[in-house]
Amino acid sequence: MYLDLILEQLSDGAFHSGQVLAQRLGVTRTAVWKHVSALADLGVPLERVRGRGYRIPGGIDLLDEGSIRKDLDGRTGDLLGELQIHRQIDSTNAALARAPAPAGGARVCVAEYQSAGRGRRGRHWVSPFGSNVYLSVAWQFRGGADVLQGLPLAVGVALCEALDAAGAGGLSLKWPNDVLRGRAKLAGILVEMSGDASGPCRVIVGTGINVAMPAVAGRVIGQAWADLSDLAIGRNSLVASLLNRLLPLLADYENSGFAPWRERWQARDAFAGQGVRIDGGGRVLAGIAAGVDERGALLLRTETGEVAVHAGEVSLRGMP
Ligand code: BTN
Repeated sequence: MYLDLILEQLSDGAFHSGQVLAQRLGVTRTAVWKHVSALADLGVPLERVRGRGYRIPGGIDLLDEGSIRKDLDGRTGDLLGELQIHRQIDSTNAALARAPAPAGGARVCVAEYQSAGRGRRGRHWVSPFGSNVYLSVAWQFRGGADVLQGLPLAVGVALCEALDAAGAGGLSLKWPNDVLRGRAKLAGILVEMSGDASGPCRVIVGTGINVAMPAVAGRVIGQAWADLSDLAIGRNSLVASLLNRLLPLLADYENSGFAPWRERWQARDAFAGQGVRIDGGGRVLAGIAAGVDERGALLLRTETGEVAVHAGEVSLRGMP
């Protein structure tokens, strides 16, 4: 609680003395110092100047429920059951997986910081404080997982469309659903499903978007990455814009399936017509990428004919 209060005070970018903070919060200066140190440990860029106090240079645009809700479309507002905003959490996907399945509408969780952000294939998602978007949406489908084929790809298209609307250019999709800006990864999507193939099924759609990745955090990412730091994009309006696309997509998907998304996915295919390798966990396939089928499987033209690939990691042939 005190951590939140101190953060809110410091978010304006001005200096605040330890003494004034202590008085406002009704705690000792030592307690203020401890909380400020805890914020610095999370990666909050804090400055301490003797005689002036603490500040966050440039301030910080904290995630805020009111600011997000005011930019939601009418339909999205109706589809949104619960919006959780956390200053720190292990993983927004994990938080929603622990919660009961949403009874009606979507349960949404966003965070400033993830200590254990989850990526695809068991990887870690680098999630420094207050710089990026970490967003998960839980949705309950009546039909089973069978009708959800292609959903992760449709989410990739929805993300690109929201990011385009925010002014980000040069976006493409790497199968199944990495969002690239130029040739580097801007956003990742992790869709987790629980339930059975024919009965009710819960889906958690998690997305991480690099908005202004601090250089020090970016150094530990094991691949080329991009962010949106060249644009003046507020995270609250970006979250609202994402929800304006993701919630209707989830609400309609059971009826629409992948069909309305396939052409839009292919229009953004980063590797269409190029020689690729697909590492399917021990089995490597090589061929020419030829779009996706009606279920979202990657079509690969190989020497022995066309193959539909349902899982694996794609890379350009001749590249790592
Ligand atoms: C990928 O590996 O490309 C998928 C990355 C997904 C990261 C997001 S951040 C919000 C949500 N919570 C998580 O723990 N992971 C997803």
